[in-house]
Amino acid sequence: MALKSGRGALAPPFLVMDVIAAANRRAASLPADGSAFADGRGVLRMEVGQPGTGAPRGAAEAAIRALQAGAPMGYTEAFGLPSLRARIAAHHEARYGHAIDPARIAVTVGASGAFPLAFLAAFDPGDSVAMAAPFYPPYANILTALGMKPVMLPASQATRWQPTIAMLEKLDPLPDGLIVASPCNPAGTMLAPEELEAIAHWCHEKGVRLVSDEIYHGLSYGTVAEASAARYSPSAIVVNSFSKYFSMTGWRIGWMVLPEDLIRPVECLAQNMFISAPHVAQVAAEAAFDCVEELEANKAAYARSRQRLLSSLPPLGLDVAAADGAFYLWLDIGHLSNDSVAFCAALLDDAGIAATPGVDFDRERGARYFRLSYCGPEADMAAAPARLGRFLAQRTAS
Ligand SMILES: Cc1ncc(COP(=O)(O)O)c(C=O)c1O
Repeated sequence: MALKSGRGALAPPFLVMDVIAAANRRAASLPADGSAFADGRGVLRMEVGQPGTGAPRGAAEAAIRALQAGAPMGYTEAFGLPSLRARIAAHHEARYGHAIDPARIAVTVGASGAFPLAFLAAFDPGDSVAMAAPFYPPYANILTALGMKPVMLPASQATRWQPTIAMLEKLDPLPDGLIVASPCNPAGTMLAPEELEAIAHWCHEKGVRLVSDEIYHGLSYGTVAEASAARYSPSAIVVNSFSKYFSMTGWRIGWMVLPEDLIRPVECLAQNMFISAPHVAQVAAEAAFDCVEELEANKAAYARSRQRLLSSLPPLGLDVAAADGAFYLWLDIGHLSNDSVAFCAALLDDAGIAATPGVDFDRERGARYFRLSYCGPEADMAAAPARLGRFLAQRTAS
């Protein structure tokens, strides 16, 4: 008898994960003596938003100390270690000048673990949730797997790839929710604080649940100020993580700032779905707040890589979005290709640069874009423009 499969089986892939696998294969195929490319380097990993640096030293040492002391590392409370929650609340107040009750902080298994909790607590199957396109693919894929409907707001350079109230007001009926991310992935562009404030007020007044993904906070380069939606709306859900600024992707710790009405519902869901985030990783995450010097040095390296790319790509004919923050560039290749998957495959094969095709982030228009991530080792990032230049010159010549 044929077995039934659930709607979760229909979730589209997160394509960047496939690109990672292809880049691993390409790297494994190269001669070990570095002779494959003129610069002597291997595959330049610009596909994934994973800092090339590991966890800050102080965070790793805190975990080592706790393990050596024989701490049992059992389950924690579903919302995490009270000391970590208090530290996150203090961080929020220090960064945004806005006090948050630690009771509103939920420690999660990365920002990724926060999304299903937030979506299940805030929305019902069939509800529609808007987001600007291009968007971070799991927003739409998780909503779809949960039976909710992602609604795309096609954004452009003109709105810094961000949603506007005018776009939202055109939706009939209005959506049940809105996801914003500033800085966003894939464009790295931001909403100005007053724009975020206006959107947060609009959502609150209209009964549209705002989910603000603030995972790239701490990584912006002075063009637009960072602001948290928690400051502007008592009903917004804020999602954040230790994966990006704190350089702790594999430790899998994130957090939410929850509105009062969702604290208990999210806690019940978290108890059932995750029990708790990994204990040892929570210990490390708490210590990461004391590693500012190392983390700021990482950020300074991203800033240098960003600056190099922003000055060297336009002369190659690549138009770069404003790139206010995160560590991504969203590049228009419409004049070169209408198939970003084939373009990125050739870029990996011929130039040894792993990049993510735009179709991952925008199913309608992504065929003419690709994303470069510049959080890898600085020397690799510095080698990218010359390789890209040769690749583009060969394509134009052939
Ligand atoms: C916008 C955005 N949100 C969330 C995540 C997931 O992060 P985490 O590692 O905390 O699960 C990512 C990861 O790349 C991201 O880019």
